[in-house]
Amino acid sequence: MPAFDLVLRGGTCVLPWGEEATDVGVRAGRIAALGDLRTAEAAETIDCTGLHILPGLIDAHVHLRDPGDPAVETLESGTRAALLGGLTAVFDMPNTAPSITDKERLDWKRGYLEGRAWVDVGLYVGASKKNIAELASLEIQPNVCAVKVFAGSSTGDLLVEDDASLEAVMRSGRRRICYHSEDEYRLQERKPLFTSGMPHRNHMVWRDVDCALIGTQRLMTLARKTGRPAHILHVSTAEELELLRDYRDVSTVEVLLNHLTQTDEAYDRLGGYAVMNPPIRDERHMRAAWAAVADGTVDVVGSDHAPHSRAAKERPWPDGAAGLTGVQTIVPLMLDHVSAGRLSLSRLVDLMCAGPARVYGATGKGRLAAGYDADFTLVDMKRQRTIEESWIVSPCGWTPFAGHRCTGWPVMAILRGAVAMREDEVVGNPRGTGVRFAEARD
Ligand code: DOR
Repeated sequence: MPAFDLVLRGGTCVLPWGEEATDVGVRAGRIAALGDLRTAEAAETIDCTGLHILPGLIDAHVHLRDPGDPAVETLESGTRAALLGGLTAVFDMPNTAPSITDKERLDWKRGYLEGRAWVDVGLYVGASKKNIAELASLEIQPNVCAVKVFAGSSTGDLLVEDDASLEAVMRSGRRRICYHSEDEYRLQERKPLFTSGMPHRNHMVWRDVDCALIGTQRLMTLARKTGRPAHILHVSTAEELELLRDYRDVSTVEVLLNHLTQTDEAYDRLGGYAVMNPPIRDERHMRAAWAAVADGTVDVVGSDHAPHSRAAKERPWPDGAAGLTGVQTIVPLMLDHVSAGRLSLSRLVDLMCAGPARVYGATGKGRLAAGYDADFTLVDMKRQRTIEESWIVSPCGWTPFAGHRCTGWPVMAILRGAVAMREDEVVGNPRGTGVRFAEARD
């Protein structure tokens, strides 16, 4: 019997301790060896000359809309998009229709993803004012990545906005809680200032810097009071990033690809297809986000993939839906940022592998190391390709990044030892399963 099921030969690996030209041996779905394996026997060998081998990239922030409207997205189509885009795992948000807020729906979703998911999936459980007493037991169910709190309203009906309820949520269990942080009171107070049909750029005037900042200030005060770890999702302002540097004892930070890539000119160019929560803002905030990537403030970069129908996106502002697709495009766009010199491949791996594993406590993923899952994203940093809308497999069928030319492209993805995507084709059947977390067990 050959020593390995698979050997990746001749590539450059992005290891936790730096880039190294080394082979990788895989056995039984896990990494069995790193080193010179030129003479090792293997059932299958892949020549990776000229390619970088990254640990399987993770998008820790996606909305796959299942259950919901299959004409927009399903768990099958969204994970297929993820795989074609070079990801091997996603963490799926709970604001579906209906929301994932109890054990019954969580159990349903865990069963439902088997045989349908093309990549591995972590499951968020939603907090509501009605399920606070159950959150401590819900957050330790198998494959749960975190409790998600909408402290400001967005798509769906999940909302926990007042300090007393937020404090009760924080006292309900022990794992890190993920927050959509926009101050609901300021959002509602400012809503009447705007009328239907106003230009889309009013989105960032309505949900302004203070909405985000006040929301995050309130959450940080409560997190420190209760000692409950927090993860602030999609931080969108320079002011919050500055504040969060003083709360590293209780909080970690996510920034979105969109806030690193788009500024307010997008409203004029894309109309409703630039509208998301929290909003895309002016260049000052984008520069602050990159500075926070450079100095280590940011732990995770995600896409906040949030598909909606074209009809919902094309309604006059502010009657349209907020949210942008991104699960299929995040890797090419991040590789393009690497090519432009905005971050290194090692930092990209930190933000999309080690970061998610550390923040959410995922086990067996996020590093190229012996014993870890044999999940790999193989990238060709020389490949140039333009993102085309026809490439998008989410049924809603659009991307705000159509026409963006990328240098660097994911050419292969390997999931637990088996090739799952090669050159734009998914391979085999949907083999995704639930991601494991240290504090959530069978
Ligand atoms: O723009 C957004 N869309 N922000 C969110 O927080 C939710 C998301 C969605 O589910 O549509």
